[in-house]
Amino acid sequence: MDTRPVAAASWDAGESLADHFRALANDAEHLYGYAMRGMAEDWAAGGPTRVACRGYETAPRSAMIQFRLLAGLFRLVLTGEAPELIRFYPCLGGTEPASRAWPVMREVIAAHTDEIHAALAVAPQTNEVGRSAALLAGIFDLVAASGVRHIRLLELGASAGLNLLLDQYAFRADSWHFGPSDSKVQFADAIVGEVQPGSFEIMARAGCDPNPVDATTADGRLLLTSFVWPFELDRH
Ligand SMILES: C[S@@+](CC[C@H](N)C(=O)[O-])C[C@H]1O[C@@H](n2cnc3c(N)ncnc32)[C@H](O)[C@@H]1O
Repeated sequence: MDTRPVAAASWDAGESLADHFRALANDAEHLYGYAMRGMAEDWAAGGPTRVACRGYETAPRSAMIQFRLLAGLFRLVLTGEAPELIRFYPCLGGTEPASRAWPVMREVIAAHTDEIHAALAVAPQTNEVGRSAALLAGIFDLVAASGVRHIRLLELGASAGLNLLLDQYAFRADSWHFGPSDSKVQFADAIVGEVQPGSFEIMARAGCDPNPVDATTADGRLLLTSFVWPFELDRH
């Protein structure tokens, strides 16, 4: 887990954290859109968001402080420390309108300021198995072009290494399929355009990451889950 302090050197001059929060929220009507607009106002007004973000005032936009905060909040929900928010989190069965969530989120931030503050030290690690589709298309092309069918996969920034397991996922298209059809990870028409499907075998796989995540542990699963937006049900 990346707990290095966020560098202030590249602070986007003249921009406050509220500006960063607003810029990513835009007019989005999903849970995080409302949350980020609420956080922006609350930060500017000196509310609990401002208190939780102490020390990060000059963090650059690229540090994505808002996603660190929202992941910390999500972890509180997932670990049962903020049950009042479950009703707004679709991946947990919540059906309440996102537009009503912010005041409740603000209360939770106020009640857990230190935990939220600690969460800001954890850089987002969004794992996206959907990227396996691009990897598969590339491997198909290489196999077709070279005739080589024995592959070694090496990934930089593998995080939990989920994309190193692409041969355990099922891909389906009109004219071809790949992988075990009963896989828990299913992709339909994930590759746009022509592919040249061919068989291959992954002989070795390895990944490196400054902050590797072990998805087989409870803590690893919690971390990975917390960075997936709660209303993106397919990704959950
Ligand atoms: C957004 S995650 C992507 C995880 C995975 N590759 C995927 O596509 O689902 C980016 C990962 O890159 C790692 N990372 C950041 N800087 C790195 C570096 N200099 N060398 C290797 N990995 C790095 C982070 O720790 C993080 O786990």
